[in-house]
Amino acid sequence: MAVHSALKLVEHDQKGVDLAFRSDVLRGFGERQKAIPARWFYDRTGSELFEQITQLEEYYPTRAETGLLERYGREIARLVGGNRAVVEFGSGSSVKTPLLLREVSPAAYVPLDISGDFLRQSSEELAAKYPDLPVVPVEADFMRPVTLPDCVRHLDILGFFPGSTIGNFVPYTAADLLRSMRRTLGERSQLLIGFDRVKDVRRLIAAYDDAAGVTARFNLNLIDRINRELGADMPRERFRHVARWNDEWSRIEMHLEALDDLEFTVSGQSFAMQRDDTIHTENSHKYTPNQARLLLQVSGWTPTEIWSDDAEDFAIILASATEFRSAP
Ligand code: AVI
Repeated sequence: MAVHSALKLVEHDQKGVDLAFRSDVLRGFGERQKAIPARWFYDRTGSELFEQITQLEEYYPTRAETGLLERYGREIARLVGGNRAVVEFGSGSSVKTPLLLREVSPAAYVPLDISGDFLRQSSEELAAKYPDLPVVPVEADFMRPVTLPDCVRHLDILGFFPGSTIGNFVPYTAADLLRSMRRTLGERSQLLIGFDRVKDVRRLIAAYDDAAGVTARFNLNLIDRINRELGADMPRERFRHVARWNDEWSRIEMHLEALDDLEFTVSGQSFAMQRDDTIHTENSHKYTPNQARLLLQVSGWTPTEIWSDDAEDFAIILASATEFRSAP
């Protein structure tokens, strides 16, 4: 079946500037520790660079999670049950999504992503692979509850949130996001979600600062995007990529560090940085299985099964929307 045209829920001004992007950058650059939400990495180039990251030797999460889906896909499908729609948060990976769809055989597939271009391309690739599957892409920011297309409203839903993307949110925002997903997916839904596990810090740093410099290009691409889309003049070559471990928050942080004192403008507003100041561009939280289960529980999801690889690098958890009860 052909891909349905994408429902568009993202706002732009008359010049085509994404209003949320501009307001996040201007607000984040006005703070003492400059920061930008990590979701803005994913323009077309950023999404392509991320695909390259997933194939790097040092970047174990994609390999580990793919291995888990291959090994436990049938068991997952049995626990999930039949005649469900799969709603994926993100435009779908060319490897992981087919692994799940092959086992679950859903009635429809709804990829939900903020990056329209990438969403359309990956939806078309998937529809070509599964000609009988209705593919209904929705271009939207899944941080807020999303109204699902009419054609899946009557179905029970399996949400799919792979890749440990949940780790890119600080725990309180992660809990908000998981609650919002529950509202999007409905009372009888289930969620299959990937978590990257706590591990040796040297391996973590190597995964986020690879020898070939792909992650550095991914991080620096944000400057190109700001310059192009927000009429800015940030000197890309005067910044360097930094990945560091924050033990208190159990997370890898990525920063763009100024190599000199700098002045630049974004959308007509002036900003200054001193040498060694950074723009904080990403958090990637790492969880123990118990912490991951607790995060789901406080967010309205009851974990029903957890699978982890032999190296204990990565975990996927199946959870059901917790029934509301007015008493214990
Ligand atoms: C998308 N997300 C789960 C990746 C991660 O590992 O936090 C993004 C990434 N950043 C650098 N490398 C990969």
